[in-house]
Amino acid sequence: MRHFARTAADTAELGAALARAQPPGSAFTVVYLEGELGAGKTTLARGYLEARGVTAAVRSPTYTLLEQYPVEGSTVLHADLYRLRDPEELETLGMRDYAQDGYVWLVEWPERAAGRLPAADLTLALIIRDAGHAIALAAHSSLGEAWLARLAVP
Ligand SMILES: Nc1ncnc2c1ncn2[C@@H]1O[C@H](COP(=O)(O)OP(=O)(O)O)[C@@H](O)[C@H]1O
Ligand SMILES: [Mg+2]
Repeated sequence: MRHFARTAADTAELGAALARAQPPGSAFTVVYLEGELGAGKTTLARGYLEARGVTAAVRSPTYTLLEQYPVEGSTVLHADLYRLRDPEELETLGMRDYAQDGYVWLVEWPERAAGRLPAADLTLALIIRDAGHAIALAAHSSLGEAWLARLAVP
């Protein structure tokens, strides 16, 4: 599935649409957000989190690497692995403890983890183009497929 976001607000709205379309339940869910610096990964995560009722400011976890947000029925873990020095550091961050039902992971720079992350249910690849940002969405599990099937974006 492809989407074109002319503005940052469009990208945030896609995040919000994903929040609304997410299959009910609290199954462990992993979303990879791929794309270069400035591609809109954090903007999309912010739109998702706000649509899930997060009222606190959503900051990029650039230095903390991880932020957690309690939402209805689960906890959303927003990670930015850009500054991960070594994939081993994932253990220090305690990521393993959050790889269970009740958690939704939104992971920026998943490639920095060099294959040590749980597999993604959805990958979103964001690419900067002249007139906006192109976003390709792909499902990699039945949960991801159900999610995209429920997605209604204008
Ligand atoms: N179509 C668009 N989608 C997303 N961001 C956009 C778009 N157009 C402009 N921007 C700007 O690009 C920047 C994206 O930043 P951010 O979401 O932090 O990216 P990333 O997390 O991928 O590094 C923001 O300043 C945002 O306002
Ligand atoms: Mg970011």
